[in-house]
Amino acid sequence: MNTSQQFIVNPSQKLQGTLHVPGDKSISHRAIMLGALAEGTTQINGFLEGEDTKATLQAFENMGVSIDRPDQKQVTLHGVGLQGLHAPDRPLDLGNSGTSMRLLSGLMAGQAFSVEMGGDIYLSRRPMRRVTDPLTTMGAQIETSEKGMPPLKIKGGQRLQGINYTMPIASAQVKSCLLLAGLYAQGTTCAIEPSVTRDHTERMLRGFGYAVKKEGQRICLQGGGKLQATTIDVPADISSAAFFMVGASIAQGSDLLLEHVGINPTRTGIINILRQMGADISLHNQRDVGFEPVADIQIRASHLHGIDIPKEQVPLAIDEFPVLFIAAACAEGKTVLTGAKELRVKESDRISVMAEGLQTLGIEAIPTPEGMVIHGGQLKGGVINSHGDHRIAMAFTIASLCAKETIIIDDCANVATSFPNFVNLAQTAGIDIQLKNSFSR
Ligand code: S3P
Repeated sequence: MNTSQQFIVNPSQKLQGTLHVPGDKSISHRAIMLGALAEGTTQINGFLEGEDTKATLQAFENMGVSIDRPDQKQVTLHGVGLQGLHAPDRPLDLGNSGTSMRLLSGLMAGQAFSVEMGGDIYLSRRPMRRVTDPLTTMGAQIETSEKGMPPLKIKGGQRLQGINYTMPIASAQVKSCLLLAGLYAQGTTCAIEPSVTRDHTERMLRGFGYAVKKEGQRICLQGGGKLQATTIDVPADISSAAFFMVGASIAQGSDLLLEHVGINPTRTGIINILRQMGADISLHNQRDVGFEPVADIQIRASHLHGIDIPKEQVPLAIDEFPVLFIAAACAEGKTVLTGAKELRVKESDRISVMAEGLQTLGIEAIPTPEGMVIHGGQLKGGVINSHGDHRIAMAFTIASLCAKETIIIDDCANVATSFPNFVNLAQTAGIDIQLKNSFSR
């Protein structure tokens, strides 16, 4: 039986109140990985109970790690040490999760046993050579499909050698994969980034007592150390908060507070870009929680205008472009995004899929090879295909706040990969959204 989900979203007025969006996806994945491989017991609070992070958790259970779940947001990991994993008795199923597959590739390349990793139809179309090429240079043996896509078969018992790798793309997943493989490598492993990407792996490794050196854009670690168990507080995910930040900015009369959101400067492109567009965003109660900075974010409605999005902001807002395109469609004037070809290989081709959806809603949105040109205007209603991409489905839900008629969004089940209670929270904030399930054989 297949379940498909549809969102039916009617135009609504304003967003208000206080929301606490779920835990950060990137941090939750890393907390499971490092906690599983640490010496001792790691406690995670604020864990994202999403399909993607559950896939990572399940993978480690399948490799013999004992994990307790006192409640949905809490995870207790009984770490097995860097050499303590066991061969799983079946291929690891990573669902829709690119982060699980790319980060685990690095860890699995250093194990004594062989592993196969696969996922759903969307993950099976995503490029993996960006990680398998440098891992192979380190001495790993990995088979991919002919086109360099999943499933990946990683042969155990290989000796890895540290490398100096100049990354051709700005990708935190590639950087993290190399650093995690570097834990098992002889000598030093360095990743040199073309521009700054999210640094949760580096922060968390240090939090587990592992030395990571950063000199300019070069991030290095030495193999052969140990991870020491710790406690991790996962802040709310700024990438999930982003939907409500845009929603409150475009819905006149809104005043919304988002609590305890991660504001790591490698993730705050959404705030920087929205502010340049004229958004009214203020940060309250800024503090550090464990290894990460957090704040309560207040957003009041404002009149947005189009901008040329600065290129250096692109990696800092890489997951937020679907909803930023909605902000641009509701803004006055033209918004231009360039230098973002990575958007073409996310959970969907986010440039084509967003342009197609915006055009359906009557907006002039012109896709370019590495970005989009959007002329702000009045959105009408229509039927949108999310192509199974969680962030596309949520972005078009937000579009309803400046649309004249109902927007119907198809293929929304994957919203649960990153934001399991999205429909409830959206309703609480003031969005008129209904979820329709259909079943087919
Ligand atoms: C992630 C990094 C980003 C992001 C993804 C999560 C991570 O991908 O798009 O959703 O947790 O490291 P890239 O680093 O490949 O751009």
